[in-house]
Amino acid sequence: WQSKLAIFVSMKVILIGYMGSGKSSVGNRLANILSVPFLDLDTQIEHDTKLSIPEIFKTKGELFFRKKEQEVLQQLLENDTSFVLATGGGTPCYGTVMQQINETENTTSIFLHATIETLTQRLFPERASRPLIAHLETQEAVYDFVRKHIFERNFYYLQADRKVDANKDISEIISEIVLQLF
Ligand code: S3P
Repeated sequence: WQSKLAIFVSMKVILIGYMGSGKSSVGNRLANILSVPFLDLDTQIEHDTKLSIPEIFKTKGELFFRKKEQEVLQQLLENDTSFVLATGGGTPCYGTVMQQINETENTTSIFLHATIETLTQRLFPERASRPLIAHLETQEAVYDFVRKHIFERNFYYLQADRKVDANKDISEIISEIVLQLF
């Protein structure tokens, strides 16, 4: 049935949402089910620059990173192939990125929506790999940061074509997305 699905899928699925909302793990599994390549924007940027995300922030600054992510995303959107893409948490929140995503043909944007509690639980143990929250020392500090930050970012995330509850088990999230796509 997976190959049957692939016949009907000729589209770009763009996953957006806050850090820790599960974009990469959901994207990976979803791409597998849809039999299309999985792409991760952060990984593409790391590959292009030959630097890790924390290294880019440290040596080149956030502005460089934001320009780079827009450039790499633009190239992918112009590409005439099907894929599932996990964006970075900030990707749709700068310039006209969300508009560009929504105006690209055969593209479905999906907002993985997780609560501040879920995000804090997921992010606290792995904050070192995320430059924006690496300096936060307690779970409470992460909670407060996410609460304020997500308030600003929801404006962009809510412009996605679809919204999916990402507080659930990964298999349930995938089922919900597949149901929404077909
Ligand atoms: C960022 C999220 C990260 C990465 C960078 C900045 C953000 O991606 O792009 O650290 O601004 O929210 P993930 O959402 O995959 O963690």
